[in-house]
Amino acid sequence: MRIRNKYRKSTTFRCNAGSRCSTSAIVWSLVGCLLMLHFYLLARHKDGVVGEIQLNMSQHPQFRELVAVEEENIQIPPPRGKRSPRAAKRRPKRPTTIIDEFLDENSQLRNMFFPDKRTAIDPMKDAGNDSFYYHPGRIWLDTEGNPIQAHGGGVLYDQRSRTYYWYGEYKDGPTYHTHKRAPARSVIALIRICVPPMIPKGWIDGWKDLRSHISVQVLRRGKVDLIGVGCYSSKDLWTWKNEGIVLAAEEINQTHDLQKSNVLERPKVIYNERTGKYVMLMHIDDANYTKASVGVAVSDYPTGPFDYLHSKRPHGFDSRDMTVFKDDNGVAYLVYSSADNSELHIGPLTEDYLDVSRVMRRILVGQHREAPALFKLQGTYYMITSGCSGWAPNEALAHAAESIMGPWETMGNPCVGGSKVFRHTTFFAQSTFVIPVPGFPGSYIFMADRWNPTDLRDSRYVWLPLIVGGPADRPLDYNFGFPLWSRVSIYWHRKWRLPNGWSGI
Ligand SMILES: *[C@@H]1O[C@H](CO)[C@@H](O)[C@H](O)[C@H]1NC(C)=O
Ligand SMILES: *[C@@H]1O[C@H](CO)[C@@H](O)[C@H](O)[C@H]1NC(C)=O
Ligand SMILES: *[C@@H]1O[C@H](CO)[C@@H](O)[C@H](O)[C@H]1NC(C)=O
Ligand SMILES: *[C@@H]1O[C@H](CO)[C@@H](O)[C@H](O)[C@H]1NC(C)=O
Repeated sequence: MRIRNKYRKSTTFRCNAGSRCSTSAIVWSLVGCLLMLHFYLLARHKDGVVGEIQLNMSQHPQFRELVAVEEENIQIPPPRGKRSPRAAKRRPKRPTTIIDEFLDENSQLRNMFFPDKRTAIDPMKDAGNDSFYYHPGRIWLDTEGNPIQAHGGGVLYDQRSRTYYWYGEYKDGPTYHTHKRAPARSVIALIRICVPPMIPKGWIDGWKDLRSHISVQVLRRGKVDLIGVGCYSSKDLWTWKNEGIVLAAEEINQTHDLQKSNVLERPKVIYNERTGKYVMLMHIDDANYTKASVGVAVSDYPTGPFDYLHSKRPHGFDSRDMTVFKDDNGVAYLVYSSADNSELHIGPLTEDYLDVSRVMRRILVGQHREAPALFKLQGTYYMITSGCSGWAPNEALAHAAESIMGPWETMGNPCVGGSKVFRHTTFFAQSTFVIPVPGFPGSYIFMADRWNPTDLRDSRYVWLPLIVGGPADRPLDYNFGFPLWSRVSIYWHRKWRLPNGWSGI
């Protein structure tokens, strides 16, 4: 009783002029206000920009193809008969998962994940009915007939030459396993870093199983000697001409950042109008991922050669996977995984883009996200991230924010179609960049890498349509759970093409 009285006393209070307002009146007016806000937001949502985009898109027949849901039905092959009884005894048989098959270079499904040369996309030959079709996962040839080498990449649209430039890691060398060279200590540190806390349950045989996959992946973290950054140019985002290695490894100087045993990942290039320079930012590391820095290089031309300036830990923090995003007003931002990949940091670059400024915010703290890719639609910022599991694929998440500096909301898994395991592995790939499709606001190309851990140079590109529209399907943390923003959807397709009439074709 005493507790109850006390409770009552504390929840009624004096309003002005000494009148007593009851708790329920306050609660009900609050509920009323929230409901009104909710209806207002819903109305805005329906009538606003999102509605326009959907209307606009639905008028275009080819858009209906893009947003069609395409299912994949993968049959896991039965265990092979060759297994000797002794081997079966040594290793208790587990049910095979599709992830096992993906990671097993001798899997019977290998050709589904990594189709061979015969199915390669060859823009110089695939004219006619096949032209402009993307086939996620197939080998993609440049204009000289060689597989494109631009992994973990990004695309710059150069206004001056009206050309797209695709920059990425040039990995055309043998893959070896760093665990043979790196000390055990750093391997253990990597396992600690890379085992994410929240795991989508039900798509694999359980947490323990996934852990074992991840640690094996991390232990075997394959590496290719640093060769440099590849650059390809295109007018149509389909036919790519090799512009060569625009930032090359350092051959002689053993203390240089770009010395071949070091790591260069996720290069991104932006153009600085003030200085007239093309600025490349990239993740620079040593073989055991302890340097965790951002490197900067500049060039007067999009096709280089780029001059390497220096690397540093931005704001004094470790920085691994990263990206840059240039806003409409010319301010560019660096986004990087930090605090042992447990959170992202975001901050504006200096005016010349060669350094970070002093402003920085920590976002998605404790969520262990990497491979960020940002884009913006009508004042709202969106970001796709991956989980952190080495070369093994994992679930993507979409995030949104009113201000690029946050707070960032997590909106859930953007992947649509394929199958459950396709959606929970980002179609067996990892985000790297999002390209806006000119002329079609709200539509983008989602660029991802399907890493091939045993032969990294043979990693594939998974490009898919990304559409912003429709209500978000998950309550949000910072907006009373109201769906303020549109859903981000990445649609699986075995083959697809950009709609006719986009400005590039
Ligand atoms: C779609 O919207 C854009 C601008 O938002 C407009 O220029 C274009 O004409 C629209 N297209 C159609 C088919 O309505
Ligand atoms: C292209 O498609 C049309 C209609 O489907 C078909 O009649 C034609 O033979 C195809 N051409 C080639 C070169 O495949
Ligand atoms: C080697 O690289 C380091 C770091 O970039 C630099 O300080 C040093 O001057 C270079 N040495 C030579 C001989 O170029
Ligand atoms: C990182 O690896 C190199 C060899 O690749 C080794 O010489 C170095 O001591 C390692 N650094 C740390 C901090 O473990």
